[in-house]
Amino acid sequence: MQTVHIEFMVNGKEVALDVPAGATALQVIREMLGLKGSKEGCGIGECGACTVVVDGKAVNACLLLAAQLDGCRLLTVEGLADPAGLHPLQEKMIEHHAVQCGFCTPGVLMSSYALFAEKANPKREEIVAAVAGNLCRCTGYQQIITAIEAAVPGENR
Ligand code: FES
Ligand code: FES
Repeated sequence: MQTVHIEFMVNGKEVALDVPAGATALQVIREMLGLKGSKEGCGIGECGACTVVVDGKAVNACLLLAAQLDGCRLLTVEGLADPAGLHPLQEKMIEHHAVQCGFCTPGVLMSSYALFAEKANPKREEIVAAVAGNLCRCTGYQQIITAIEAAVPGENR
């Protein structure tokens, strides 16, 4: 099996791996790094369950080759909380009952995180657009959008 050597940052830690040349980032994140928060729903870029943040942008890890992570900064849902506690997005998702089965939740969080990184005070329609690629079969989306809106950095100062 042909492998590729990659070095990158995962949730603030340096990682060096030899990955199968054809492996997706999602396979490496889940199976080699053991970070199971990123989910595989469709595997073809349709559901957003695998969303992670690479160099500040939300991407579908199922569509990204692991080799493309070389030199990148990867953030997964496991890196959102810090020793001080949950990220405000996580707290608001709980507070607003935006989680049912939870399968979509990591992807929603990462899409929202990337939006906040790009824009300090996104409007509701920008939030809706940012998570449009994250399918949820349970909530009807209203609680998710409300929770993200409540976590807007400008609202928490
Ligand atoms: S698993 Fe990647 S978009 Fe569905
Ligand atoms: S909470 Fe079940 S898919 Fe969104």
